[in-house]
Amino acid sequence: MEGGSEPVGREVEPTQQHEGGAAPTRQRGKTVHGEAANAGHRVLAPDDAEVEAYLETALKAPSPARSPDDRPGGSLAGSAPGVDLGSPDTVIVLDFGSQFAQLIARRVRELHVYSELLPHDTPWSEIERRQPRAIILSGGPNSVYDEGAPMADPAIWSGRVPVLGICYGAQLMAHELGGDVLPAAKREYGPASVSLTGDDGLFAGLDRDQPVWMSHGDSISRLPEGFRATAQTDSTPFAGLADTSRNLYGIQFHPEVVHTPRGRDVLRNFVIGIAGARPTWTPANFIETTVAEIRARVDAHARATGSDGRVICALSGGVDSAVAAALVERAVGDRLTCIYVDHGLMRKKESELLRATFEANLGMRLVMVDARERFLRRLADVTDPEEKRRIIGDEFIRVFEEEALEMGRIDFLTQGTLYPDVIESTAPETKAAQKIKTHHNVGGLPADLRFQLIEPLRYLFKDEVRAVGVELGLPDAMVHRQPFPGPGLAIRILGEVTAERLETLREADWIVIDEIKAAGLYRSVWQSFAILTPVRSVGVMGDGRTYANVVAIRAVTSEDGMTADWAKLPYDVLAKISSRIVNEVPNVNRVVYDISSKPPATIEWE
Ligand code: XMP
Repeated sequence: MEGGSEPVGREVEPTQQHEGGAAPTRQRGKTVHGEAANAGHRVLAPDDAEVEAYLETALKAPSPARSPDDRPGGSLAGSAPGVDLGSPDTVIVLDFGSQFAQLIARRVRELHVYSELLPHDTPWSEIERRQPRAIILSGGPNSVYDEGAPMADPAIWSGRVPVLGICYGAQLMAHELGGDVLPAAKREYGPASVSLTGDDGLFAGLDRDQPVWMSHGDSISRLPEGFRATAQTDSTPFAGLADTSRNLYGIQFHPEVVHTPRGRDVLRNFVIGIAGARPTWTPANFIETTVAEIRARVDAHARATGSDGRVICALSGGVDSAVAAALVERAVGDRLTCIYVDHGLMRKKESELLRATFEANLGMRLVMVDARERFLRRLADVTDPEEKRRIIGDEFIRVFEEEALEMGRIDFLTQGTLYPDVIESTAPETKAAQKIKTHHNVGGLPADLRFQLIEPLRYLFKDEVRAVGVELGLPDAMVHRQPFPGPGLAIRILGEVTAERLETLREADWIVIDEIKAAGLYRSVWQSFAILTPVRSVGVMGDGRTYANVVAIRAVTSEDGMTADWAKLPYDVLAKISSRIVNEVPNVNRVVYDISSKPPATIEWE
């Protein structure tokens, strides 16, 4: 989908990726050192994760699951004669463990073709039920000769569906069909020049010499019968292979990373040219299908149970819950009520933005609960970071529960679950998210308050959520925001959280964001914010000595929040932030910049 997507090039740092060789491999959900990236309490990137976690726990909601029938528009197939609202053409990406597997799916979707990521060993029957137009095999860290090397169901080689193997996927294709793969004499890692010799459509429109990104130890040394070489480099004669009669294609290089400048064209040639997938995966089509699905589901439930089919949604201030709410509102109108719990730990003007967006602009029913005092009372004297999180989660549930009870019968709860959550929940190595959710298990709603879940974003990546938000008319300030932790400013105030300290931090934070935006950096850093340290330092202002707070500034770049680097902000931006904070925020006389990366530090200070 296009529209809201940021340049994704930044998100790809192949320098950390080593495939098919002895170099360390970064596993999903792990830091570069192999530790769980978000140890214990940490929620991954989604900015709405915390609200979700509270509610899922309270409702004992099942974690995201998927079945072959769980596809966009799946429930509408055949139900709307004359209107093409069924499932979009689909490309399956089989995941052989590459860090780039998700990226391949995203790249395909950028061509407006829906793409799903599935484990490499997904049985053919499940693949077939999704009626894919094409299958792409990702790279991966293994050698095809490794014990337990990841395999695919051999039925994928039948030629019924076009297959493109990338890196390990190409080696697997060669190996499985009778060719040879050997450890290359020379490992290829990094930029390379490939000479394209194939004329089978995959390289249509491309100059014969192309810069590409390589990352492999093993190489194909003999082609299986029926295959032709389609690309070469200095170190490998089979950087590309194809058997067009069987619809099988392989490439040793990575078309999905930005370091392969024409990689997008190779993917387009395969997905649209060779496989003939229709590029109908657009924000507008997604909205139309999703809205129709939600409406059909809510109406059917209301008819079957004689209820009004009422839906609630907890707004967190983040983009996910905002877009989810806007979609559901389009489907069910004022049968949706949004609840926003103002715990007082929000950034400056947050509540106003929410009210303006949802009430004034979209005319939605919004219940704003002013719970600021309740949260402050419970946070009094609390300094332990985990205790803060526990209290905030607990109080959130209580407030939400009280509000929901007052509303009478509710049938559905809207959640902003994203596609990566759905993928992660089925990946065995990442159970961290589960742990995060149980962490806040503090009682739960009464048994008679049982909702069904509506998860309108479960097929979308974050940048697609943004594109849908733009298409729905949500304001830019809502759609393009940096992640913000559920416990809010409470975990950016080291020590006790008081009304006064919140005010100090809110003002300092506002200045950071203001200057980062003014410098045009807001969307190129992952997060930028202020922290109120428990340290006071001596200063001099005018003629007087001061003894006041030290504020720290944190700005990081990151792909996904799991690892991060401190942002090399220009000195003049730092200088401006610093002087504005000491001049405009009472009781602050010193500003420091946090130059720690994650790991070993985390992004948040608590
Ligand atoms: P850390 O501090 O673990 O942060 O490096 C990684 C990402 O997660 C966000 N974060 C949280 N989000 N509840 C949330 O919803 C939390 O308790 C929480 N802690 C950290 C953080 O802002 C960053 O984007």
